Amino acid sequence: MTPEELVEAAGDARTRAYCPYSNYAVGAALLAADGRLFLGCNVENASFGLTICAERSAAVAAVAAGATEFVGLAVVTADGASMCGACRQFLIEFGAKLPVYLALETGEYRTTTLAELLPGSFGPDDLVQ
Ligand code: THU
Repeated sequence: MTPEELVEAAGDARTRAYCPYSNYAVGAALLAADGRLFLGCNVENASFGLTICAERSAAVAAVAAGATEFVGLAVVTADGASMCGACRQFLIEFGAKLPVYLALETGEYRTTTLAELLPGSFGPDDLVQ
């Protein structure tokens, strides 16, 4: 699957965002090493703090399906925004080298990695005794 296809899948997931409070829809597409694709969108709640971001909803779907090795993540927003800090930390659990494509709804994107987005991170290796 190409980055462009991953971005397109994230854009599709974005159409299902539940965001009546912010009206800021986010879609994510997480590609597993075994070729499976997991989609996520932000899901807001009247109790605002319970909102889950698109990236984390894709990751929890993947892990629940048995996928923990990932080869690409696309995120689509109206303005091509980056991932929040919570999602960076959540995803870096599964590898810092993950390519991340931050995209606009037009399909235009920029490429980065989780390591670039979260330098000096704390991860599973820090817990080895
Ligand atoms: N949001 C995401 O889904 N991912 C991010 O990385 C940043 C923020 C969502 C949460 C909330 O529903 C809306 O965007 C506005 O913050």
